[in-house]
Amino acid sequence: MKNTIILFSFLIAGPLIAQNTLELKPSSSTVKINKEIYGHFSEHLGTCIYEGIYVGENSEIPNIRGYRKDVIEAFKELKVPVLRWPGGCFADTYHWKDGIGPKKDRPSIVNVFWGGVTEDNSFGTHEFLDFCELIGTEPYLSVNVGSGTVQEAVEWVEYVTSSNKSPMTDLRKKNGREKPWNVKFWGIGNENWGCGGDMAPDYYANVYRNYASYIRGNNFQKVICGPPGGDTLWTEGILKGLKGKTDLAQGLSLHYYTLPTGDWGSKGSSTEFGEDMWFATLRNTMQVESHIKQHLSIMDKYDPARKMKLIVDEWGTWYDKLPGTKDGFLQQQNTVRDALVAGINLNIFNNHADRISMANIAQIVNVLQSVILTKGSQMVKTPTYHIFKMYNVHQDATQIPINFATENYIYKAESIPALTASASEKDGIISITITNSNPHKAIALDCKVGKDLKIIGGKIVTGKAITDFNEFGKEEKVYLSDFKLGKIKDGALKIEVPAHSVTLVQLQK
Ligand code: AHR
Repeated sequence: MKNTIILFSFLIAGPLIAQNTLELKPSSSTVKINKEIYGHFSEHLGTCIYEGIYVGENSEIPNIRGYRKDVIEAFKELKVPVLRWPGGCFADTYHWKDGIGPKKDRPSIVNVFWGGVTEDNSFGTHEFLDFCELIGTEPYLSVNVGSGTVQEAVEWVEYVTSSNKSPMTDLRKKNGREKPWNVKFWGIGNENWGCGGDMAPDYYANVYRNYASYIRGNNFQKVICGPPGGDTLWTEGILKGLKGKTDLAQGLSLHYYTLPTGDWGSKGSSTEFGEDMWFATLRNTMQVESHIKQHLSIMDKYDPARKMKLIVDEWGTWYDKLPGTKDGFLQQQNTVRDALVAGINLNIFNNHADRISMANIAQIVNVLQSVILTKGSQMVKTPTYHIFKMYNVHQDATQIPINFATENYIYKAESIPALTASASEKDGIISITITNSNPHKAIALDCKVGKDLKIIGGKIVTGKAITDFNEFGKEEKVYLSDFKLGKIKDGALKIEVPAHSVTLVQLQK
């Protein structure tokens, strides 16, 4: 009888207990959400570097020393904390000495991985590091392990970071840079299980030890090439191969791309999709969390002191190329779906900030899930740009652990959590970011925040349709706008999280 009453009340009034709840857990936790979790990646691929960032000093497109002014402004506003370069697969074909000295003397090479185009090396080490200084970002350099040598890598490190007198520092000065640059982050190889030399894990581990023992510098963070997605055999293999010397690597990388179909042959369109591909994309994105947990538990076995951090240095959506664009240029559009993908990933990274020290979305301009797209002199900020701008508040903030419960978003026979969330505090301001994957309904979220807080305001990124995107020369359809919130009553705040949206709620003590 009792059960019948409960069932009856559920049917007429909904569940008796709130299904969607978020509680800020008071904690003595001092886990910092490293600003580098909001990092980016730039490769000599398609129009990421040339056209997207660098147009040359003689271009009609307004520029500073050849770098696009509009793009510089957009990145400054975004507070890009770290930028990875020169690849990707390109990095393991890149010989840095080709990209220094007078531009007219620099050799041209063929970019074998990306469209077979001619790379004239006019954007090299000086240009990249100069650009990082212009936008106020930390550089993260990827060393050529696949086709390079230890000597070449060591000379690059010396050229860039040394203040001693040596042949390499003399060369740097001759090329116009007196002072060394401060480069902390060094990736030793990229995808060495694939495009970076097709190595076996134990072989790569030996190679890594060799490189890492010669690449030396103050406070360097050296990154060992980690697995793609859920490849635990690679993680196990390389960590075992370090033979106890886990202190040779401060970071282990993870690459995880979201493909709607999960099939590299036919990945799905970036703009034309229905609920099936919307659901599949968000479901596949959420799988990154189980990969993170799997790799962290292997890392725990080899590095129980947890000194080595996880660095998700390539992530984002990967769709079929836009019709009419070149093969190997990886050009795609960016819709409300990408905003959700970004929000979900960043919430997951925030919640694992004790172990994830950096993440780099692929890639910063014109390639894959970019924050900026350019066409000639035009530029658009994508929905993903607006998510990064909204989530800026978490950069170097203290993570707030949350108790969180969400209903599911059910599509056909499958379900995923409808909401995701993360929270942090900086300068007395508490920021909570929430995603709602359900494209059909707003979800009421009951937040237990505490009595002594007041609301500062809210922000939202959404669109009228899930396929909305921002087009060149047109008004933005997907942007960051204010989000109206109710009042805190007895330490509780009810938030109506709109369908297919990403929201930010800010509170103050
Ligand atoms: O981001 C595009 C490519 O994806 C990178 O070059 C490579 O590392 C990965 O396979």
